Amino acid sequence: MSFPVTRLRRLRKNKTIRDMVEETIVRPADLVMPLFVCPGKGVKNPIKSMPGNYQLSVDMMVENCKQLYDKGVKSILLFGIPEEKDEHGLVATHDDAIVQRTVKAIKKELPDLFIIADVCNCEYTTHGHCGTIVDGDVDNDLTLDTLAKQALSFARVGTDMIAPSDMMDGRVGYMRAALDKAGYYNMPIMAYSAKYASAFYGPFRDAAESAPQFGDRSSYQMNPANSDEALREVDLDIMEGADIVMVKPALSYLDIIRRTKDNFNIPIAAYNVSGEFSMVKAAAAKGWIDEERTAKEILTSIKRAGADIILSYHTQDIIDKL
Ligand code: PBG
Repeated sequence: MSFPVTRLRRLRKNKTIRDMVEETIVRPADLVMPLFVCPGKGVKNPIKSMPGNYQLSVDMMVENCKQLYDKGVKSILLFGIPEEKDEHGLVATHDDAIVQRTVKAIKKELPDLFIIADVCNCEYTTHGHCGTIVDGDVDNDLTLDTLAKQALSFARVGTDMIAPSDMMDGRVGYMRAALDKAGYYNMPIMAYSAKYASAFYGPFRDAAESAPQFGDRSSYQMNPANSDEALREVDLDIMEGADIVMVKPALSYLDIIRRTKDNFNIPIAAYNVSGEFSMVKAAAAKGWIDEERTAKEILTSIKRAGADIILSYHTQDIIDKL
């Protein structure tokens, strides 16, 4: 049937009928808020390139999480800025490291807040790369060992889920085996499976103080031009035991989210990264776009593309407006 019998505007004539036929709904439960913890007491450092986001010391982080939880945020992703860094990122493998201390402190006050820890070395190495350097590049297999140590420590302190973001080959299987051997067979792994070497991480590297001191991450993160390769990454991570696979960034990679959705039967996360967030904030501050409407449209588009879970810095502002 076509026009004039069919008229699609009939289903758009008022809000009630539009709501009835709405296909995609972003729920508060879909959203995860990324947060940055730093050393000290009473510290709340604004992150200049990410308005409304802060580096918070553990005490301030606990207070912040209480407010977020009351607002409806049920899940956070933690990144740490350590007091000291080393060549391999070993500072992050101890149970009293910055993120581990934070997990323990939050869990004391908010046992039901779901805490995800990002597993990577870039915040913890002096050179800012995601692993151990041999001959000017990150050595894959040496790095697996520090990553697994970090993951185990997160498990010991009561983290709810780990999210490896390093892009080393074989890391999901390596961590899964280490966790299982230690009895943590119920620890879920959300793998950053298709993580691209992206310019959109710029503001995050200020926030986490993790910019590489030489070169870039192209020898381990994916080439933005590739799509078939993303499916191979996802496939391998699933075979190695990933419980959730992630596509990152989100907006320039909605096609990758959709292909992943169409090809695999597994929950998909998408990371609406720092640069995507900061562009909205900057344009809104200039009065060029409506921040709330834009953020909702962005989150809806990521969900419509096929994501089940969205990691986004918009979470704290949007959670009670959905
Ligand atoms: C750590 C990591 C990064 C992000 C998440 N985990 C940065 C990077 O790979 O350089 C980016 C998050 C964002 O931009 O919001 N490897």
